[in-house]
Amino acid sequence: MTDHHHHHHSAAGADEWDEAAMAELLDLDAEVLHTFLSEATAVLAQLARDEPPHRILDLGSGTGAGTLALLQRFEGAEAIAVDRSPRLLDHLRGKARARGVEDRVRTVQADLDAAWPDFGAVNLVWASASLHHLTDPDRGLRQIFDSLRPDGLLAVIEMAGFPRFLPDDVGRGRPGLEARCHAARAEAHAESLPDLGSDWGPRLSAAGFTVEVERPFTIDLRPPLPESVGRYAQASLGVLRSRVAEKLSSEDLATLDHLIDSDGPDGVVRRDDLTVRAERTLWAARRP
Ligand SMILES: C[S@@+](CC[C@H](N)C(=O)[O-])C[C@H]1O[C@@H](n2cnc3c(N)ncnc32)[C@H](O)[C@@H]1O
Repeated sequence: MTDHHHHHHSAAGADEWDEAAMAELLDLDAEVLHTFLSEATAVLAQLARDEPPHRILDLGSGTGAGTLALLQRFEGAEAIAVDRSPRLLDHLRGKARARGVEDRVRTVQADLDAAWPDFGAVNLVWASASLHHLTDPDRGLRQIFDSLRPDGLLAVIEMAGFPRFLPDDVGRGRPGLEARCHAARAEAHAESLPDLGSDWGPRLSAAGFTVEVERPFTIDLRPPLPESVGRYAQASLGVLRSRVAEKLSSEDLATLDHLIDSDGPDGVVRRDDLTVRAERTLWAARRP
């Protein structure tokens, strides 16, 4: 962890380090939170009842956490994964190959803030932690509405914030380091990502959907936890650091660097007292 930290975030989007770090984080997120993903897709299976979806659209798919969970849940389905990052889509195709489902996935590189490609009518749209990235999410919701067949389902997943891993006493002489990082992140995101953490229910109704499920999920994993949790914490704190570096004191930044460090004695990859606490909400809505 050296020069990576001093790079600039261009308005055009993520640079190469950011994308590699993001791919790793999204993969670990899917791995560590697989129970959540499985529960979320089970809710959709229940809503679809005797008509399981056969054409699925994953908007802002990233490395395919949703795409792959949905293909596993709905064995007769094909999915279109859409993202603006060719690199993340490339990664997604590799994972699909490894799982033997590459024939059931098509990737489409597109910027959802621009004109949408014609995806053809679909039965299920999945948008996990992606709507808040759009410049005009309400317009996006209307476009999703138009892409769905009547009776088709939209699943929106939103997160309250980044997951938390550390005990409260971490922070050298000043405990509460992680809370300070998250406060700084929230401040930065209030401007750059105003729709992060939005209450999507009313906005789904305004776009014409019937909201059928609003389900909060509280993720609270306690030790002993698998080794992947250390890497997940490391990846997550690394991305967090890139967002909040200028807002932290030099002491906090130094502590954070020790926690992220793969080789040092204080690294999170070595700790056995990590937890994973996160909150996500699933809205499932139907096009009447
Ligand atoms: C936080 S990630 C979520 C990825 C995935 N849905 C998941 O839950 O693991 C957000 C994704 O949205 C994509 N994204 C952001 N803005 C976009 C846009 N305007 N058009 C297409 N994709 C976009 C990003 O490239 C990123 O992969």
